[in-house]
Amino acid sequence: MTVNAEKSLNQETELLALREALNSRLDRLLPSGDERDRVSAAMREGTLAPGKRIRPLLLLLAAHDLGCDKHHPGLIDLACAVEMVHSASLILDDIPCMDNATLRRGRPTIHRQFGQDVAILAAVALLSNAFGIIASAEGLPADCRAQAVTALSSAVGLQGLVRGQYQDLSEGGERRSPTAIARTNDLKTSMLFDATLQMAALAASASPLVRQKLRCFAQDLGQAFQLLDDLADSHDGTGKDPHQDAGKSTLVALLGADVVHQRLRDHLSSADQHFAYVCNQGVATRHFMHSWFEQQLAAFG
Ligand code: IPE
Ligand code: IPE
Ligand code: MG
Ligand code: MG
Ligand code: MG
Repeated sequence: MTVNAEKSLNQETELLALREALNSRLDRLLPSGDERDRVSAAMREGTLAPGKRIRPLLLLLAAHDLGCDKHHPGLIDLACAVEMVHSASLILDDIPCMDNATLRRGRPTIHRQFGQDVAILAAVALLSNAFGIIASAEGLPADCRAQAVTALSSAVGLQGLVRGQYQDLSEGGERRSPTAIARTNDLKTSMLFDATLQMAALAASASPLVRQKLRCFAQDLGQAFQLLDDLADSHDGTGKDPHQDAGKSTLVALLGADVVHQRLRDHLSSADQHFAYVCNQGVATRHFMHSWFEQQLAAFG
C-alpha cells in the first residue's frame, strides 16, 4: 500500500469512529420515551436516521485542527446540538406546506411516519433540546457555552435559517437573480455551517481574527454544499425525492450544471484558502472537505 493510500484509509477509519461516537451520544441525549410517546419517537427517528453528519463532523475536525481534543465530551455535545438543530430544520423543510417531501435519509419523511402535528412538535422539541445541551455541555467554561448558544440561535433565527427558508419558499417559484439565490443559500445553508465553525472556535478559544476567517470559510462551504445538493436533485440514490426542485429557481435551473460545477469548485478553493490561512498545521478539516466533495461529485455531480 502507498503512503497516501494508507493515510486515507486511516482517515476513513477515524471518521467512522467519530460518526459512531456522535451517533451513540445522540442516542443518549435524545429522550428514550416509550413506544406510545410519539413525539419522542419522532425526535429519535428524525435525528438518528442515517444522515451524513457533516456538520457535527466538521465541528469536531475543525476544533481538532485548532488545538482541541476531538473526543472532549463537551465538544461532542456541541456537535450533537448542531445535528439536532439541523434535523429539526429537515423535519420542517419536508412538511407539506414547505417542500412537501416524501423521502428523507432513505426513509419516509417524519410527517408521513408520524403525522404533521407530531412532526412539528418534534422539531420544536429538538430545537429546545439542542440549546439545553449546549447550556450544560460538560467541561466547557460558562462564557464559551453562553457564546455558543448565541452563535447557534442567531444562525437558526429570524436573520438566519428562518429567513432563508422563508425566502426560498416565497421567492423560489419566481425568477430570481443569481445574487438573490446566493443570498438565500447563504441564509438557509451557510449560516448553520458558520455557527458550527464558530462553536468549534469557541471551544478552542480561537482569536477574533480566526473566527472572522472561519466565517468566510463557512460561507464558501455552505454555498458549495447547497450547489451540490441542487445538482444532486436530478439523481436517484440520494435518499430524498428526486426532482424535488422542479419549477424552482435554483442556480442549476438558471445557469446550467456546467456553470454550477465551476462555481462549486471556485467556492471550494476559496474555502480551502480561508481555512489554510487560520490553520496551516491541522489539515483534517481541509482533507475531509476535499475528499467528501470529490466522493459526492463522482456520485451525484
Ligand atoms: C440537507 O442537508 C439540507 C441542505 C442544507 C442541503 P444534508 O445533505 O447534510 O442532509 P443529511 O443530514 O445528510 O440528511
Ligand atoms: C435546504 O434546502 C433546506 C434547509 C436548510 C432545511 P433544500 O430544501 O434544498 O434541502 P433538501 O434538498 O430538502 O435536503
Ligand atoms: Mg427547502
Ligand atoms: Mg427540501
Ligand atoms: Mg435540495
